[in-house]
Amino acid sequence: MIVFTEQLNELIRARRSTKPRLFNGNKIDDHIIWQILENSNWAPNNGLTQPWRYKVFSELGLNKLADFQANLYIKNTPEEKFRSEKYERMKTNILKSSHVIVICMKRQKSEKILEIEEIEAVACSVQNMALSAAAYKICSFWGSGGITYTEELKEFLGLGEKDHCLGYLYLGYSDNPTTKSRRDPIKDKVEWFR
Ligand SMILES: Cc1cc2nc3c(=O)[nH]c(=O)nc-3n(C[C@H](O)[C@H](O)[C@H](O)COP(=O)(O)O)c2cc1C
Repeated sequence: MIVFTEQLNELIRARRSTKPRLFNGNKIDDHIIWQILENSNWAPNNGLTQPWRYKVFSELGLNKLADFQANLYIKNTPEEKFRSEKYERMKTNILKSSHVIVICMKRQKSEKILEIEEIEAVACSVQNMALSAAAYKICSFWGSGGITYTEELKEFLGLGEKDHCLGYLYLGYSDNPTTKSRRDPIKDKVEWFR
């Protein structure tokens, strides 16, 4: 295995979240999506439970997800709180994407592994996807707003009672991808014992 450490360092540090409103509508080839998904499958996980489950929406699937989400917003929002921009955004974020991968966690039947560890494993798997996307010059954005944690979405996705949806990974191309972010220095977050 040849690992180009400098390229890896750059890939990890240059990966950014680009909001789907900045996507240009261009489509990603499904074979690249499969490469990204394949990489997701190699994330570390305790007990080899492999708890990540993905629901991929593309083409007409995007309309189905957008309509479901916007209709649910209408249903669950009292009239005085309803905001038409939010309603529109619920559709356009999805429809501007090439693919939306809905991120799910399948709870292990025996529940031997702690739930928090299953969620951690899914997060590792999603990071594999975000980095893979960046390597293909594809923009990604993990969004967990809106209807992510609703029972209605779980039902729409066919999830079990103890499974969870953890958000959407929006994927697409952009003419104006986000390049900037900030982090506080790693030295402020590390205690090192020798
Ligand atoms: C679990 C998770 C959920 C997120 N949910 C949202 C969200 O709902 N809305 C949002 O604006 N960004 C969300 N983000 C993306 C962050 O905003 C983004 O990662 C952060 O701004 C840092 O930018 P960068 O990824 O370009 O470094 C989420 C990220 C993670 C890991």
